[in-house]
Amino acid sequence: MNRKQAQNRIESLRREIERHNELYYTEAQPEISDPAYDALVKELEKLESEFPDLVTPDSPTQRVGGRPLESFENVRHAVPMMSLSNTYSKDEVRRYDARIRKLLADESFRYIVEPKIDGVAVNLRYENGRLVLGATRGDGETGDNITENLKTIRSIPKSLKGTATPPPVLEVRGEVFMTREGFARLNQQREEAGQTVFANPRNATAGSLKQLDPRVVAKRPLDALFYSVGELDGVTFDTHGNLLDTLKQLGLPSHKRVWPCDSIDAVLTALDELQTMRHDFPFEIDGGVVKVNERALYERLGFTAKSPRWAIAYKYEAEQAETTLRDITVQVGRTGVLTPVAELEPVKVAGSTISRATLHNEDEIRRKDIRIGDRVRVEKAGEVIPAVASVNTQARTGKERVFHMPDTCPVCGGPATRREGEVALRCENLQCPAQRKQWLRHFASRGAMDIEGLGDALIEQLVDQKQVESITDLYRLNKEDLLKLERMGDKSAQNLLEGIDASRKRDFWRVLHALGIRHVGARSAQSLEEHFNDIDTLMNAGLEELDAIPDIGEVVAQSIHNFFRNPRNQKIIEELKDAGVTLKRTRPSVGPSAALKGKTFVLTGTLDHFTRDEASEIIRSLGGTVSSSVSSKTDYVVAGENPGSKRDKAQKLGVQILDESAFHKLIGKTGA
Ligand code: IVH
Repeated sequence: MNRKQAQNRIESLRREIERHNELYYTEAQPEISDPAYDALVKELEKLESEFPDLVTPDSPTQRVGGRPLESFENVRHAVPMMSLSNTYSKDEVRRYDARIRKLLADESFRYIVEPKIDGVAVNLRYENGRLVLGATRGDGETGDNITENLKTIRSIPKSLKGTATPPPVLEVRGEVFMTREGFARLNQQREEAGQTVFANPRNATAGSLKQLDPRVVAKRPLDALFYSVGELDGVTFDTHGNLLDTLKQLGLPSHKRVWPCDSIDAVLTALDELQTMRHDFPFEIDGGVVKVNERALYERLGFTAKSPRWAIAYKYEAEQAETTLRDITVQVGRTGVLTPVAELEPVKVAGSTISRATLHNEDEIRRKDIRIGDRVRVEKAGEVIPAVASVNTQARTGKERVFHMPDTCPVCGGPATRREGEVALRCENLQCPAQRKQWLRHFASRGAMDIEGLGDALIEQLVDQKQVESITDLYRLNKEDLLKLERMGDKSAQNLLEGIDASRKRDFWRVLHALGIRHVGARSAQSLEEHFNDIDTLMNAGLEELDAIPDIGEVVAQSIHNFFRNPRNQKIIEELKDAGVTLKRTRPSVGPSAALKGKTFVLTGTLDHFTRDEASEIIRSLGGTVSSSVSSKTDYVVAGENPGSKRDKAQKLGVQILDESAFHKLIGKTGA
């Protein structure tokens, strides 16, 4: 590979890794397995070591990982939370041993092998025995303050046990996780409630800890286990074994079993034994961690860029099996993304039979050179969607066929295009049945038309039974139609019809937002409302006029222009007019929403109409920010039922307190 090629590949790997980081850490919805992710990172590391001048400080190889979410308070870790260097190879574990033996000269030491838990890393800070702070790792330097959420976990003690004289400062580090059983139960409940299910226990854990409302967290089956420390004052540990024992004495849950080892051979045997026991743990483990037992040696061993040298993680390969790729079909996802799917000869992997696996996108297929008819290795890591890991090229007969993505959508026949900077092909036809559900979901969502009673499960039914093909069909539904649906009683049908009716009176900007014009969020919808007053003027606006509006950039202007040039969309607007939906400005020119720009909100108590996440989303979409604690800088405290101490604090500081109906007014919601 020449320098230019390397540079291209490095840039594309970085983009891809950043995208997966975002999916994994921020959205808790990964698309690929850990080993597949690690392979991308390894490839990047290798290229960067071959072309060291191409290394940049912002490369994902130079940072630890996730980023803190905006909605929690940020906390700087007293001692950075580093990551572990990891490997899938026993040889590399041997080389690790050789390296550190050299570094430690003749010093004698032992190792401890312990399970690597596949959860979410947290830091707990106890001051004089009391839990004062709990935080996520975040980017390693700064994490989210999730103290209240962590306090809901039963196995986390709020004060340390078994000692009359607790140390002034003890920070412990470990993993929050969900047992397989708890995870299965949670997903079952969610499925029954028509909510999206989590891909695996780790995501369910991350998703739960991200909740702003600790009462929601309290209902999630979370557990925790601790294996390391951060800042210490008034306490020291000479060995790792001693550290683990002390944590247990203090009432902090730790490993049930660890393997002390005198030699690297003993370490490798322990790793094997742990691997055979892997499925006996009630939670997911994704490898073993090898740690030097003597903590006095840690300082001498020092650190690499991201991780300490006193430990290494040996990760288990995702379980794989070989099978034949019979065909490649194309699936259209809810956002119109066309995903190639491998149709496989059924094969057993990690205890379940797999007959389909995602191939992600065409670039991936090219990179792995996957052809129809190939013998392929499929893998299933945790509960993540199965994927094709590699091709057995030795088994080729010459009859295999190269696959090309179609240039039309297999569902509606519309053109499939690639958005700038994306690898995926998309069907941009919002009328495509595959996308209708998604569009309806967006249309009905709280930040848009806020149609009470129109949840995911109902949307599925309405579209599948062809009762609703476009958003405007909603306004034609009658009770008789609705009563034909599963589990639909008279009362819920009535409520839904009222919900739909109420949506006719939503502000014009909400309708514009609900239309789902690409790049048009709540804020730009408001600018459009401000500028155009009614839909006809907006539809007739030229590109230049659109471009000149504050908050509307070139790309957005183009997208709006395209949207209204499309005859199908023109028809929808006509139908919305006929349905009596508000299509002109009804509120005064300097709308209340303008007040949210730069305003800081704190939410407390339960709101009737929104979860906290939803309320935060709306505030943010209108330019405001949400913070978790009240200070003199807070502009509004929104207090629902049973508000906590935050309301009192607001009162003391003279911060304006809004009840739910005042909040509704402020966000410009009418008819609710
Ligand atoms: S020790 C310097 N021990 O794996 C980091 N980590 O990739 C010290 N993990 O951030 C961590 N089980 O979230 C350690 N027994 C264990 C672990 C463990 C899981 C996680 C932890 C860490 C990540 C490192």
